Amino acid sequence: MTRTVRFSELGEPDVLRIEEDPDPQPGPGEVVVDVAAIGLNRAESMFRRGTYIETTHLPARLGYECSGTVALLGEGVTRWSVGERVSVVPAFSMNDYGVYADRAVVPARALVPLPDATSWVDGAAVWMPFLVGYGGLVETGGLKAGDHVLVTAATSSVGLASLAVARRVGAIPIATSRSSSKAAALEEAGAAHVVATGEEDLVERVLEITDGRGCEHVFDAVAGPGVADLARATAKGGVLTIHGLLSGQPTPFPAETLPDLWMRAYTLFAMTHDEQRLRRAGAFVGAGLRDGAFTPQVDRVFDGLDQVVDAHRHLESNTQVGKIVLLPGGAR
Ligand SMILES: NC(=O)c1ccc[n+]([C@@H]2O[C@H](COP(=O)([O-])OP(=O)(O)OC[C@H]3O[C@@H](n4cnc5c(N)ncnc54)[C@H](OP(=O)(O)O)[C@@H]3O)[C@@H](O)[C@H]2O)c1
Repeated sequence: MTRTVRFSELGEPDVLRIEEDPDPQPGPGEVVVDVAAIGLNRAESMFRRGTYIETTHLPARLGYECSGTVALLGEGVTRWSVGERVSVVPAFSMNDYGVYADRAVVPARALVPLPDATSWVDGAAVWMPFLVGYGGLVETGGLKAGDHVLVTAATSSVGLASLAVARRVGAIPIATSRSSSKAAALEEAGAAHVVATGEEDLVERVLEITDGRGCEHVFDAVAGPGVADLARATAKGGVLTIHGLLSGQPTPFPAETLPDLWMRAYTLFAMTHDEQRLRRAGAFVGAGLRDGAFTPQVDRVFDGLDQVVDAHRHLESNTQVGKIVLLPGGAR
């Protein structure tokens, strides 16, 4: 039997239930993975609440990202072998697949190899953050050496990875957090400057840091009314990329600044639904992992699938710095 996390109503973390099912079988183009570690994402709490970019169809499963071992191959899957160590990346809809389970069916196109030297926890924590950071800033954003880049909600797993990606290409990352209590952690993670948005004026600080020019790139996880200030902190001809909706509020289109500013939205599906881009991202992230420039920052590991409610509560506490990982503990 396999334990799978499901929910049949939208709401707080305690809507999550563990159900026992017969072991899953892969269909054509799919594989079954014995799940070793699950990486939690903000997207999953939004999906659970019904506030994600995609409508939640109930009853629903959860989970975009995990590490584990290939257990079964569906018809037509030739690239992978049983027993291979893999990471699962978000290349599907959670209305179709979910990896919060002991064993999960996923499309074979969502697998990337997991090197022997990378732990299960790191293998579950690395891809979503680095695919967003690399894909949004470099592959589709054009970030280059010497650019200033403002990374909002930088203590998030995506924010920390974005700081590392910016450093890797020689850009100068400026991080925001709502309070100064996480400033030291952000500097340690590579931020050249930290702005505590609850305590100081964001636009003033950014203009001061950039000698009045503003940032060539702004990489925003929050959206909502604060985007007007972000536009003022963007350099002429700069790029303001919105990749998350943490504020939960409608986002204005700051037209008064726009003649000299590109404003766009980005999702990592631009990477994971394109084989060539995913391959380039794999090479970029893999090289950084091998030479130690990229290490997924793990905030806390919850041991046992039955810890899922507590893990989601911790995710929503916003006290974390980095990734939250859940070990199902069933299949291994
Ligand atoms: N576009 C994509 O494809 C994609 C993929 C994955 C994730 N994302 C987005 O990336 C963002 C981070 O995701 P994650 O899973 O890495 O998150 P996470 O680790 O759960 O991020 C938590 C951090 O976000 C900050 N935060 C939370 N609510 C906020 C609010 N209302 N206003 C400002 N800051 C807030 C807090 O930092 P402080 O307390 O330090 O301020 C908190 O520590 C989310 O917006 C998510 O939707 C986008």
